[in-house]
Amino acid sequence: MARRYFIAGNWKMNKTSAEAAVLAKAVAQSVGGVSEVDIAICPTFTSLESAGREIKGTNVKLGAQNMYFEKSGAFTGEISADMLNGAGCEYVILGHSERRQYFKECDCLINKKVKAAVAASLKPILCVGETLEERESGKTIDVVSAQTKGGLDGLSAAEALNVVVAYEPVWAIGTGKTATPAMAQEVHAEIRKVLAGMFGADAAEKIQILYGGSMKPENADELLKQKDIDGGLIGGAALKADSFASLVKSAVALS
Ligand code: 13P
Repeated sequence: MARRYFIAGNWKMNKTSAEAAVLAKAVAQSVGGVSEVDIAICPTFTSLESAGREIKGTNVKLGAQNMYFEKSGAFTGEISADMLNGAGCEYVILGHSERRQYFKECDCLINKKVKAAVAASLKPILCVGETLEERESGKTIDVVSAQTKGGLDGLSAAEALNVVVAYEPVWAIGTGKTATPAMAQEVHAEIRKVLAGMFGADAAEKIQILYGGSMKPENADELLKQKDIDGGLIGGAALKADSFASLVKSAVALS
């Protein structure tokens, strides 16, 4: 496969700085030498420095979970792309469904963040995904297509090559319910079609599309075997070094 697998851990609002260092150290020890697969951990802002220190010099990269699109100024409580760069981040998760749901982030705001991240040479991991209600009323493809188009609007094909898309059905996040491999593959293929329409077939073939939503060692293999599933954005299973390492090893075995 031309695309590399990418296993990214979204630690969400978990771990103090000291706890994050312990987990990052364990991740670095178990998969830090893996070169066949892209790997990242995304701790909270307050843990970027401590976790970053533990993975420095290994193949595990650092990501953040959010940022604001302005460069600096009077935006109390916000964090800029330059600040994330300064903290050693290569990636930033944007538009996660929890931010859409609890913090009312819309595609328009997320698009500004994506552009600001790309302009600062950070790689956005743009999250898209339908709610249970949207799936049950047959709107999955429309919702996911609109979020992909809205989030990536205005990027050039060259810029889009630095973007990762994560399909995370909202009903599968933290619930133990996973999309079946066939269900996920169908949506991933549609996302790739949208990307081809926006950026051309060549670029679309190169962009990694991750699956997220109760992905764990027991179900990873079948998901990762799907043609358009290029890895996982992992929540709960990323909080234990051994299960995260097992997901990385599944991707290595399929590489
Ligand atoms: P879980 O793996 O805990 O379902 O979370 C998925 C997720 O939201 C990753 O961003």
